[in-house]
Amino acid sequence: MPIPSIIAIDGPAASGKSTLGRRLADSLSYLFFDTGVMYRAVTWGALQRGLQIKDETEVTNLAETAQIDIRPASKEDGRACDVLLDGVDITWETRRPDVEANVSPVSAYRGVRQALASQQRRIGLRGKVVMVGRDIGTVVLPEADLKIYLDASAEERARRRYAEILQRGGQADYGQILAGVRSRDEIDSTRAFSPLRAAGDAIVLDSDKLNADEVFSKVEALCR
Ligand code: CDP
Repeated sequence: MPIPSIIAIDGPAASGKSTLGRRLADSLSYLFFDTGVMYRAVTWGALQRGLQIKDETEVTNLAETAQIDIRPASKEDGRACDVLLDGVDITWETRRPDVEANVSPVSAYRGVRQALASQQRRIGLRGKVVMVGRDIGTVVLPEADLKIYLDASAEERARRRYAEILQRGGQADYGQILAGVRSRDEIDSTRAFSPLRAAGDAIVLDSDKLNADEVFSKVEALCR
């Protein structure tokens, strides 16, 4: 069996998708594409411009016109890649709590999804790609050769996100993070357009029971 060329990894917030995706892409020498950063970039742009997040028309207009660029990391400060919005490096801005709190409502707008998913699909169809998100196996690249759905309990995911923030030297409250994770899960999985769910032909892995190395080994074995 040839090594799959288009690999889709979906799952809820902080389930370990990016860690797995980055490692897999490195080992196969594929492009790693984390689609969440595009939704975060639009959300940051909307907040920065003072738009009302509830204003679907304005937010969609921004998603349709903004130039989002994702480039190889230009700095060794822990970033996986550079995220630019209209030429401005906003990589760390996209991780801000106010972006985190507003990204799911922004991502629920149909026009926002259409604008971003068409760019993601164009890049994904070139192949040799590991694309990570919520709807990659179901909507963006339903023809993917391998689909993984990575799950974990909300408590475990909140614990990981908490540790990640502390490791970066930030401050965090576990209870708030857990509430944020649950709220995003709820919005992401109940929205009308491309909700978070496993594709029928996805392989579901539970990372509560598997550590990062075990998840990686399983998925690498599925590829080779
Ligand atoms: O890293 P984490 O799992 O916390 O979030 P992310 O992957 O950066 O995604 C942030 C938000 O963008 C999610 O909560 C979704 O609302 C949205 N998103 C989406 O709707 N579709 C995608 N393909 C990727 C992200």
